[in-house]
Parts: sequence; C-alpha cells; structure tokens
Amino acid sequence: MKVFIETMGCQMNRLDSELLVGSLRAAGHEIVQDQWSADAVIYNTCSVRRHAEQKVLSRLGADGQRKASGRKLIVAVVGCMAQRMGESLRQQYPAVDIVCGPGRLYRLPELLADAAAGGTRVALDPARNEPPDPAAEARMDELDLGRDPASGAVPSQAFVRVMRGCDFFCSYCVVPFVRGPERSRSPDHIAQEVRRLVEAGRTEITLLGQTVNSYNWSGGGRRVRFSDLLERTRAVAGLRRLRFVTSHPIDFGDDVLQAMRDLPNVCPYIHVPAQSGSDAVLKRMNRRYTRARYDDLIDRARAIVPGVVLAGDFIVGFPGETEQDHAASAELIRRCGYKNSFVFKYSPRPGTAAAERFKDDVPMEVKKRRNNELLAVQAEVGLAHHRRYVGRTVEVLVEGPSPRAGKQPRPAREGEVQLVGRTRGDHIVVFDGPPGLAGRYVDVRITDATSLTLMGEGGDEPEGGTRPDTQHRDSS
Ligand code: SAH
Ligand code: SF4
Ligand code: F3S
Repeated sequence: MKVFIETMGCQMNRLDSELLVGSLRAAGHEIVQDQWSADAVIYNTCSVRRHAEQKVLSRLGADGQRKASGRKLIVAVVGCMAQRMGESLRQQYPAVDIVCGPGRLYRLPELLADAAAGGTRVALDPARNEPPDPAAEARMDELDLGRDPASGAVPSQAFVRVMRGCDFFCSYCVVPFVRGPERSRSPDHIAQEVRRLVEAGRTEITLLGQTVNSYNWSGGGRRVRFSDLLERTRAVAGLRRLRFVTSHPIDFGDDVLQAMRDLPNVCPYIHVPAQSGSDAVLKRMNRRYTRARYDDLIDRARAIVPGVVLAGDFIVGFPGETEQDHAASAELIRRCGYKNSFVFKYSPRPGTAAAERFKDDVPMEVKKRRNNELLAVQAEVGLAHHRRYVGRTVEVLVEGPSPRAGKQPRPAREGEVQLVGRTRGDHIVVFDGPPGLAGRYVDVRITDATSLTLMGEGGDEPEGGTRPDTQHRDSS
C-alpha cells in the first residue's frame, strides 16, 4: 500500500512517526509524500490544545467526502487524540477505519492489513486506572530499539525516547491521560539505541521525555537517575552532542547541572517551561513550584553551567489570570533572558482538572493581546540574547539548505546556497556555504542577529577535522 503520514504535536509524535515509517516499510508498504495518491492516510495526532484537534477533524471531514464519492481510502487516526476520543471518533466520523493509541503503534501494520480486508479496528492503551500491559510495553520498546538508525529527517541528528508518559498532572494538561503513567526505559536499551544511531552517523542525540529530568530507573539493585543517564549516554564513542527536552523545573537538581558542566558533549541548553510568573496561577496550574523556586533554578543554572542557554513555555489566559499575573510572566521572561519562548493561549481540555474546576473566564481578545505582549517581550530579550554572539565564532552543526533560501538574496559565491544549522546552545545559524556541508560541524563567525536567528559567514571545518570535545566549552 501507498501510505501517507501527517504528524501533528510534539517531538514525541515526530519520533513515533519516524518509527512508524520504519515498521510500515518493513511490512512492505511504501511511504508517499502525496496524500492524493495514497491508499491509506495516517494522522498522528495531538490533543494538547483544541486547535490541534480541530485540524484533524477537518481532515476527517474531507476524507469522508472523498470516500462518499467512491474513493477507496483507509483512514487511520493514531496518537494522543485517538487515545483521548477512542471509539467515539469512529462514531462521529465513519470515514475512520483505524483508531490507535500511542502505546499500541506497534500494531499498526496488522491493523492496516485488517482494514484492507474491510475491517475496522480500535486499539487503545489501558486507561490510567487500569492495570498496565507489560507485553505491549515490551513491544513498544522493541519498536524503539528496532528502528532503522539511518532513517530520519536530518541525517546527523536523532531523538531517543528515555521515558514515556507523565505523572505531573498539571491542571490544564491532557498528556498524563493520553500518554499514561511515567515509565523510564532501561538505561541499557537507551545506550544501545544511541550507540547504533551514532554508528550510523548520527552525532547529535536528543533525549526525549515529557519531563525528561524526572527519569528514574531501577532494576537489578541499581538505581539510575537522569544525571547518571547523561553520564552513561554521553560516553558513547563518537557522540558529539547530547541534548535533552523537556525539563520540569521541579526535578532539576544540581547533579544534572553539574553533569552539564562537566560532561563536554552535553549541550548547555535547557528548555524548562515556567508556564507563568505568578504564584497564584502556578498554584492553580498545579505546577508544584513557586516563582521563587523557579528563579532559584535559573540562578543555579547560570552559576553552575557557563553560558547556559534557556528556553521557556508560557500559557496566557489561564482561568483567573489577572493583569498583575500577566505582568509577572512578562517580568519573568525579562529576568530569564530566554533564547526563545513558546507562548500558548489557554485551551480547556475535556477531563482535565482545570477544565472541570475553573471557568475559562479570560476572553479570547484578552488572551490574544496577552499572547502578543509576551511574544513582544520575548522578541526583545531574544534579540538581546542573540546579539551577544555577534563577533564570536561558534560551532555549527549544519542541517542543510535553509527552507527559506528562496526568499533570501542569493548567495554571492558560485556553488553556495544558504545553509542553516544549530549551535550547541540550540541557536539557529544561517550562513552561505556549499550544500555538501550538511551533517558537518563547522566554525561560523557571527555577523548579525535577529530575535530568533544568528547570521554568519565562514563555515570552515575546524582545522584537523574534528577537534577534541573538550575545546567546545564556550557558551555557543
Ligand atoms: N511536558 C512538557 C510540555 C508538554 S505540552 C512540559 O511539561 O514542559 C507543551 C506545552 O503546551 C506546555 O509546556 C504548555 O505550555 C502548553 N500547553 C499544555 N496544555 C495546554 C493547554 N491546555 N492550553 C494551552 N497550552 C497548553
Ligand atoms: Fe503536561 Fe505538566 Fe506533564 Fe508537562 S509536566 S506533560 S505540562 S502534565
Ligand atoms: Fe500533543 Fe501528545 Fe505531544 S498531546 S504535545 S502529541 S504528547
């Protein structure tokens, strides 16, 4: 079958889709980029905000019309929204043939075969109050472990899952319901996966978890904390950069910060969402920390990790958020000087504590204004942050030609294109160079900056090819 996959949501979903591509190819299917020629479409969905779900529902409406007009098509809804809505998705949208939760993705080849034979299938993860299914867990782990280490969007980078689910229950968030309880993967499996990826040429690995720093595994009398995992993983030979997302402010001990300082290939970048700068809002969000505690984490990070680069998330218009609360968030953005922040308008999610307990009482116009105000403050601090790099030379891992290259002035030199890459601190760097540099580490001299990007020139490979990692301790 020709299969088209559309992925919404976070990096976890991007990784899941990558694994799906591998398992579907192994089952003999062809992955196509054009949905109109596909025999099956798979939507890997997100439920975190209403908008994300609406996008899928409109796709399902259109697919329903195509099927009604005689087109043969298998429609599969997988991932978080499939888990949240379950059987009701099929009842509301009869065009849907397959509903598959994020913990049952290993079954997709079999479900597609059933659907091709005319059946409809629903495969969901157990609800949080039901006992877990160890056999399914093991199959999911096999899916991660059995991945094709050479496939993926960017040749030199890869995501590796270190944990599944979440136990934090922030009052606004659907993730603990759709991704289930927190489970840490075996450190041996993680190291094995990283080793295979590095052997296949992936030199930058990002460890993934909803609250990656609460990683905690025990077995055979051993206990492995997140800082131990960093130590273990970074020791994989040939690994140049090790990153991790997303961190929760509560589990961020000095042991992790010290590991970031002492382990040369662990990147000095922390994405640690604050969500709000106001204690009253943090409390209603059930974030389990106060503003003072978040401030303390940022101070500790700055004191321990030289040149640490910070990124954040904020929610505006949470129920009861006053202008004063909002001003506290703006002030926190200034205090932290984030490289970038994601700002979201509160979206009540069915079944969450916030949706049940609090009225969504901040009007949409106010949410929009606050959203724009926080983005404006972030643009200001982001520009100041990026400008600090002008005149410095930074190490860039080249991802490839810039997707915006067509809209920019053409490079002056023959044979060059506009390239994009990232620094160790996760800054986006744009510079002109030969397309063959994709996947390589180069030194770029920064000449200009915007609130989100560094512009530079050079792009020379460091003398002698690869420098020892210990020389990469600058803050870039
Ligand atoms: N696990 C990550 C975040 C997962 S969701 C963490 O804890 O940091 C990604 C972001 O979406 C969150 O950080 C939050 O800012 C936002 N978000 C989650 N639920 C939301 C909701 N109901 N409305 C608006 N934004 C939400
Ligand atoms: Fe959601 Fe909070 Fe868990 Fe992040 S920590 S996934 S925001 S419940
Ligand atoms: Fe969305 Fe699921 Fe990720 S709800 S944010 S795709 S874990």
